[in-house]
Amino acid sequence: MTNARPAAVIILAAGEGTRMKSATPKVLHRIGGRSLVGHAIAAARVTGPQHLAVVVRHERDLVAAHIAEVDAEATIADQDEVKGTGRATECALDALPADLSGTVLVTYGDVPLLTGETLVELVARHDASGSAATVITAHLDNPQGYGRIVRDADGHVAGIVEQKDATDDQRAITEINSGIYAFDVEVLREALAQVGTDNAQGEKYLTDVLRIARDGGRTVDAHVIDDLWQTEGVNDRVQLAALGKELNRRNNERWMREGVTIVDPATTWIDSDVSIGRDATILPGTQLLGATSIGSGARIGPDTTLTDTEVHDGAEVKRTEAVLAVIGERATVGPFSYLRPGTVLGVKGKIGGFVETKNARIGDGAKVPHLTYCGDATIGEGANVGAGTIFANYDGVAKHHTTIGAHSFIGSDTVIVAPVDIADGAYVAAGSAITADIEPGQIAVARGRQKNVDGWVARARAGSKTEAAAVAATEAGTRHTGKSAEPASREGKA
Ligand code: UD1
Ligand code: CA
Repeated sequence: MTNARPAAVIILAAGEGTRMKSATPKVLHRIGGRSLVGHAIAAARVTGPQHLAVVVRHERDLVAAHIAEVDAEATIADQDEVKGTGRATECALDALPADLSGTVLVTYGDVPLLTGETLVELVARHDASGSAATVITAHLDNPQGYGRIVRDADGHVAGIVEQKDATDDQRAITEINSGIYAFDVEVLREALAQVGTDNAQGEKYLTDVLRIARDGGRTVDAHVIDDLWQTEGVNDRVQLAALGKELNRRNNERWMREGVTIVDPATTWIDSDVSIGRDATILPGTQLLGATSIGSGARIGPDTTLTDTEVHDGAEVKRTEAVLAVIGERATVGPFSYLRPGTVLGVKGKIGGFVETKNARIGDGAKVPHLTYCGDATIGEGANVGAGTIFANYDGVAKHHTTIGAHSFIGSDTVIVAPVDIADGAYVAAGSAITADIEPGQIAVARGRQKNVDGWVARARAGSKTEAAAVAATEAGTRHTGKSAEPASREGKA
């Protein structure tokens, strides 16, 4: 009775969710970077249950495969053709060990804002009171559609009546059943065996267990909560968006309280599995998604989307899209760059503007500052890759690797036709097309040599302004006659 660790948590997720109007099962829709059922599992795990079971039926294989991915330890329980929350719970008990004893929690797969802390409180209250069942309830201004909590003259919970089965007087009750409960497992098992389907929906109601327990002389308790978001389920896409926005507001607030500056929470989206260090600054229009982690003192945004990306302390990432990338300590990225999976930027490294990288390890202090495609490459520390360099990694059939050694220098507008190995301490002249390895200390020049042809303008462009300019400069005995544009002063323009 005093064991704070529940014997099991049962998550009901067999329902169809028709109002989503979706080919995707409802509980697989996502907010905050997790599926709805993923949120339910995360909250359940906080209580440290000995067993966790999820009841499935609609799109059973899809849902079961997803659950196995999220939580390999979870038991999948199949609900049969008998309908109702009571039957769903019974099917879960059948899938769990028969000798289960103590407290069992029941929650829903479509109530994503319920927290693990609330479940821990529920268990504590349930254990302390010694009740057979404890239900989480809330007072709603509009209780329409919910099961109502019926209390006796002493204020004790007498039972739950569904909207469709309620009398007018019962419909006036504003205390609603959240659908989340703690049960003594033996009472639950015995009561479920007695629950029938004689009600407006012809379903086996879990809610009937409370009345049966009471009739059997046991007490039933309610844990009233004020935070209404935690009991709200997703039934359609309007609710999905509303709960997604509220979850995001909560995630933002949590990080601000942990010492993160978020300049504009309204345009900052932070998934539930993100972590952020102290004194990081998140600028407007930023999305931190999946398992992204941000180091302390880092500065992210504006207008940046990072997915499953690791940003180390003190790094700066502006107007960038990154997926499965690692950005080293005090490194800088952006604006307007795209880091694809396998990008690893070293300490104080730089990926500047209009750069795309993929499967590229860029060493400490190395720089890829401007207008570059860098795919399948290893770049040594302190190397510099000039503007407009293209790593031609794909020959139409296979991808090939480029290595650039430490402190080497690649001139601008170079194409490196992989596979190529450029050693440490080597140079490449601007405008080269590199197709062969370069040894330490060498410079590679791989471009046409410049050739100047005298008198060509006079012959080929006779009578043009270009020819006149050439004649004037020649007559003045100079290279430039000084008539190049001077910027007009502001006053002059006005
Ligand atoms: C249920 C409660 C109601 C409560 C409300 C809170 C019952 C009889 N009623 O009503 O008192 O106020 O939740 O939201 O319990 N599910 C299954 N198998 C089924 C039926 C449902 O797994 O056969 C799952 C659904 O996927 C869903 C949850 O149980 O996650 C609730 O089902 P739903 O049909 O939404 O219950 P309500 O009628 O809203
Ligand atoms: Ca519902």
